[in-house]
Amino acid sequence: IHNVIFESSQEASVLVAHEIANLIRRKEELDEICVLGLATGSSPVKVYEELVRMHREEGLSFKNVVTFNLDEYYPLDKDNIQSYYYFMHDHLFNHVDILHENINIPDGTVSDQDLHQYCIDYEMKIQSYGGIDFQLLGIGRTGHIGFNEPGSHINSGTRAINLDYITRVDAAPAFLGLKNVPRKAITMGVGTVRKAKRIVLLAWGINKAGIVKEAIEGEISSHVPATYLQEHNNTTFVLDVEASYELT
Ligand code: F6R
Repeated sequence: IHNVIFESSQEASVLVAHEIANLIRRKEELDEICVLGLATGSSPVKVYEELVRMHREEGLSFKNVVTFNLDEYYPLDKDNIQSYYYFMHDHLFNHVDILHENINIPDGTVSDQDLHQYCIDYEMKIQSYGGIDFQLLGIGRTGHIGFNEPGSHINSGTRAINLDYITRVDAAPAFLGLKNVPRKAITMGVGTVRKAKRIVLLAWGINKAGIVKEAIEGEISSHVPATYLQEHNNTTFVLDVEASYELT
């Protein structure tokens, strides 16, 4: 892992957005599809803001972009404002020219019975595009990437998981109470993420300082799934000063 530290998350997010935009344009020139793996939550919000700005003001087009989101709560309806489906449309997809059929977000409404096959199909669809060119990540206080909670296998694929208690507590304010937070989620696996050609993990604020230190400096272990990124050859942790506070 390589890490870069910025004075502000704003400045850092603009740089990350520019890396993504350059990749989209480069692929466009080659007449190729650009496959983006996307995250939700507070960390990537300013990256999406800058991408939307570039679409509006600089003509950045998403016509050649295919996206795969990391995760979705399960079960959860798409029109629930806490759904990641809602989040992605609100922050990015409704404001750019991406083709509707090129958007992939795990579906929180599939039946229990179809869930297993649904996850296998999601995984195969990613591989059918030749895998992810650029994967954006955040990190949870449990060390999760996507919703790969402690205990996740390094080679795990897209699957249903049980959310950790800490993760549910962190989501409780948004759901107006812990009891409303779904107990499960669908997530791309650690293996799915690790196959990406390029990975950028964003972490902002003092609340992330402890887990960022563990992820970068800790022993590689399933107890902190983000440590698996140490073995990926093209991963950058993009941090603000607060999130980097405990690094030696
Ligand atoms: C979201 C995701 C999660 C978040 C993580 C951090 O799609 O995969 O791993 O990135 O929970 O969330 P924030 O950014 O809200 O601190």
